Amino acid sequence: MRRERTSAEWIDYFDANEANWSDIPWQRGAQVTLEPIRSLVRSLQAWQLGETSEARRLKTAAKRHAYAIGDPDFVEAMNLFIAEEQRHGEALGRWLDDVGAERLKRDLGDSLFRFFRHARPNIEVWTTVVTMIETIAVVYYSSVRRAIPSPLLQAVCEQILRDEMPHLEFQTERLRLLLRNRRPIPLWLTLRAQEVFFTGMVLVVWLAHRRMFVAGGHTFVSYLRATFRHMQHAWQAMRPRSTRSPVAEPPSRLEGWLH
Ligand SMILES: [Fe+2]
Ligand SMILES: [Fe+2]
Repeated sequence: MRRERTSAEWIDYFDANEANWSDIPWQRGAQVTLEPIRSLVRSLQAWQLGETSEARRLKTAAKRHAYAIGDPDFVEAMNLFIAEEQRHGEALGRWLDDVGAERLKRDLGDSLFRFFRHARPNIEVWTTVVTMIETIAVVYYSSVRRAIPSPLLQAVCEQILRDEMPHLEFQTERLRLLLRNRRPIPLWLTLRAQEVFFTGMVLVVWLAHRRMFVAGGHTFVSYLRATFRHMQHAWQAMRPRSTRSPVAEPPSRLEGWLH
């Protein structure tokens, strides 16, 4: 069992990871035409918008949290995490430009999530919602990679997927710290509430993006299995632990998700 990484360690990780984005073969172009895949691209447009969020509320919540626990580096670690998400959005946006699809300014699903996150912007709610979105994003980008035969987009999705595992670790480590001193009954209630919320989110995302999941080879049942399997890992990781070793492993980059 390992200890949580310090914010300084996360800063080092995010700084180093930026270099991985230089391998995307932009010179190849999208190599697909828009018309036959327009309905799939519509889904990607909505997702691209979500990835480009400025996340001002999250930054505010992170600052408050950093101040409360005396960890100023956490603000920078969170800023770098958000910058990495924006890099995902920019890469998807560049691919949309290439294929001739516009970048959206508004989307109903995106507005709904933003509204929820604004409703009670403390770090625990934020981190929980982001963890859930990232869990579903893993299944989503794996589907995009299979559904749209553009080698460039596939390279972008693979890099996004490689980034997501450390993102999930970043979030679940934070949740583990936040939940560490919660008593058993409130902790149990927190986890049950998360299950209910996650179930709702999984259903809403299926309704909005099922074409992409189906084109990527999923049925509703396999989608449910995949999303809940990833979330189970996250729930496992956020569970407070009684023993810790003094060793922090580097963030893992599981290639196995590229299924
Ligand atoms: Fe992302
Ligand atoms: Fe992410």
